[in-house]
Amino acid sequence: MAQHIGILTSGGDCPGLNAAIRGLGKAAREHYGMRVIGFLNGFRGLAQDQTVELDGAMLSGILTDGGTILGTSRDKPHRMNIGGKEIDMTAAIIATYHKHHLDALVCIGGGGTQKNALRLAEAGLNVVTLPKTIDNDISLTDRTFGFDTALQIATEAIDRLHSTATSHERIIVVEVMGHRAGWLALEAGIAGGADVILLPEIPYELRNIAKAIRRRTQSGKRFSIVVVAEGAMSTDDAREVAALVMERDKADSKKDRTEAKEKLRKFHDEHVGHTIRLTRNLEKLTGQETRLTILGHLQRGGTPSASDRVFATWLGTECAEVLNERRYGVMLGLQGSELKHVPLAALAGKIRQVPLDHPLIASGRQVGTSFGD
Ligand code: F6P
Repeated sequence: MAQHIGILTSGGDCPGLNAAIRGLGKAAREHYGMRVIGFLNGFRGLAQDQTVELDGAMLSGILTDGGTILGTSRDKPHRMNIGGKEIDMTAAIIATYHKHHLDALVCIGGGGTQKNALRLAEAGLNVVTLPKTIDNDISLTDRTFGFDTALQIATEAIDRLHSTATSHERIIVVEVMGHRAGWLALEAGIAGGADVILLPEIPYELRNIAKAIRRRTQSGKRFSIVVVAEGAMSTDDAREVAALVMERDKADSKKDRTEAKEKLRKFHDEHVGHTIRLTRNLEKLTGQETRLTILGHLQRGGTPSASDRVFATWLGTECAEVLNERRYGVMLGLQGSELKHVPLAALAGKIRQVPLDHPLIASGRQVGTSFGD
């Protein structure tokens, strides 16, 4: 009997989502004879039964488009905001799944989506996931699609900032995305020849950044480019976070744990403006004119790179094969040059940060880049 499959995209969008939907949809329909429907706006569409038939016309002409034809949201199945209240929509999701006689559900998303997909698998649904995010921070896959495009956008921005920094003999601080991982900052910083790269994995001291810039000035280089990951932290901030994490992990009552979690959330909320403070303080300490550019959602928009289109298409077609074999509860992850079936339970809730012994950190240091440590 022909299988019925559902697809949704969840979490922050990224270039390559449509390429993945197209690869999966075309292979599933045309190669394996499956029926394919899409759920709109992530887990919300699944909970509220908002669907679209993914037929030949819907799957055509979307390979090069940015965003996602299905829409996306950060809704969680077990805690969805419905009319101002947080409601567990798991039962509604299971009902929609059965109403459409689905054999399996494919969730395309980042770290949060992997966790939510595991919850649905534990509730009895057949789930397969694909790894997408510009942050490249999903555990047990060497790569996520969206990253390569964001890397190109960030690198081009750094290249452009170089000429204006040189003309004005300024320091330019560039904030890039990446959530709590430094992959985007590290690779864009190296590709763009940044003088300083600040990563969440390496807490920095402001005076070390100023020292590196002064050294450049003394050698006759009168401009500097500082690439900062949005999750980068000073050593003081990193110490505070570590203490809050310990408080949360050691809490013995539910009340204490909730309070500690709330403090941590507040810290991260307030940390959002940290590059503005960093820029101001750097200007004071060096006495050199300093400007800030926050690249923000530019890094997530627009057409995917050739490499992201290829990777997302491959993930999609491989996913159709996995569904055809009725293998569930896995994410397709790139390990070396092969796509592996990674059990959701092995990766959910973990993030992949840049290891401190990563060769690119050593490589950056060898070309004279400061990491602020
Ligand atoms: O996970 C992708 C990402 O772009 C992160 O780099 C960033 O921290 C976050 O999403 C921003 O989320 P939102 O678009 O919801 O503000």
